[in-house]
Amino acid sequence: MRIDIITAVPELLKSPFENSMVKRAQEKGFLEIYLHNLHDYGKGNYNQIDDTQYGGGAGMVMMIEPIDKCISQLQSERKYDEIIYMTPDGETLNQKTCNSLSLKENIIILCGHYKGVDQRVRDLLVTKEISIGDYVLSGGELGTCVLVDAVARLLPGVLSDETSALYDSFQDNLLAPPVYTRPEEYKGLKVPDVLLSGHTQKIEEWRQEMAFKHTEERRPDLLND
Ligand code: ADE
Repeated sequence: MRIDIITAVPELLKSPFENSMVKRAQEKGFLEIYLHNLHDYGKGNYNQIDDTQYGGGAGMVMMIEPIDKCISQLQSERKYDEIIYMTPDGETLNQKTCNSLSLKENIIILCGHYKGVDQRVRDLLVTKEISIGDYVLSGGELGTCVLVDAVARLLPGVLSDETSALYDSFQDNLLAPPVYTRPEEYKGLKVPDVLLSGHTQKIEEWRQEMAFKHTEERRPDLLND
């Protein structure tokens, strides 16, 4: 999978992509990430990328020309499955969307800043709008890190234990069951006997039951989805 990210602040994205799972996905050749600095496509001597809003009001708006120039350049080189704009008024990101995006070949992610982008960017260029939650960030970069991390770990071969993504919370609309490691007892709290029993089928049944119970208690809305 190839992800091209358009941003006015590429530095914000570097560290999350140079460590851990996303780094591993790239090293193993399952994921390519390219950062494009929007200022390289800016207008005039100052590489301007934003301007004041028509109708007045505080905050600058990102102009369409630099964004269109960058996207057109990329599209002249390959076909893209989605052009995603990160914005608080997009559809809220969930595991289903991550699963579906992990099957795409090439995507572009556009990070907004300031007051957002000129509406015509959304009308003409963007194919999908994603929010990472009901709060406003100062830009789309941190949301992009969340999205890329959640998608990268789903790419086949990225997780060392191929099955472990299947047990994640939200797969099958259930939260993950509790997990334990050594010691068997800590401050009076014991690991449930069934996990020490070595009885694979009983362990599996217990995990299913706990996942269901956990979901019922914390996120009953998921069970009605
Ligand atoms: N940009 C600003 N706030 C955002 C959010 N909640 N999700 C995605 N992008 C954003």
